[in-house]
Amino acid sequence: MTRRGTVSPIIRMSTNIATTPAYMVELGSSIGSIYILDLAEVRVKQESEWEPKLLGFLCKWCSYAGADLAGTSRKKYPANIRIIKVPCSGRVDPLFILKALRLGFDGVLVSGCHPGECHYQTGNYRARRRIAITKKFLEYMGIDPQRIQASWVSASEGGKFAEVVAEVTKELKEIGANQLFADEK
Ligand code: FES
Repeated sequence: MTRRGTVSPIIRMSTNIATTPAYMVELGSSIGSIYILDLAEVRVKQESEWEPKLLGFLCKWCSYAGADLAGTSRKKYPANIRIIKVPCSGRVDPLFILKALRLGFDGVLVSGCHPGECHYQTGNYRARRRIAITKKFLEYMGIDPQRIQASWVSASEGGKFAEVVAEVTKELKEIGANQLFADEK
């Protein structure tokens, strides 16, 4: 399954995302960890044919714009991804990632500005360190660390964004469904 054309309008956290066909959700800049709890409302419908469910945290300055460009350039990429816009990849708390996996997403993609191009100087370096540590934690928990992926995609790299989503989706298909928290559902 592929998605073509422009991406859906942003759905801000203040809207009732439980009743909205959410594709993009904005995570505001002045947020606390409480906001991630709202992700509980982002339910992905059960599909008869299993497809990996990927949650992408995209920096608004680069990767989110890259995703937009992929849409406006009509690049094809798997429709498996749901996107949350963040002010910087460094804003992604490891708890957000764990929460996403607990909610049944099969993988999480964190994507930000290229190293050295973060609008907040070192946010993406922080993200890189956090993801490395979170991967180790996942391994300790018995979860395949490949379920978390990081990428650096600029606003002008719509094609790269499409390739990253296709690649991560392919890897998740090989890893299989996230069953770790299945008995909690
Ligand atoms: Fe884009 Fe920091 S502003 S990763």
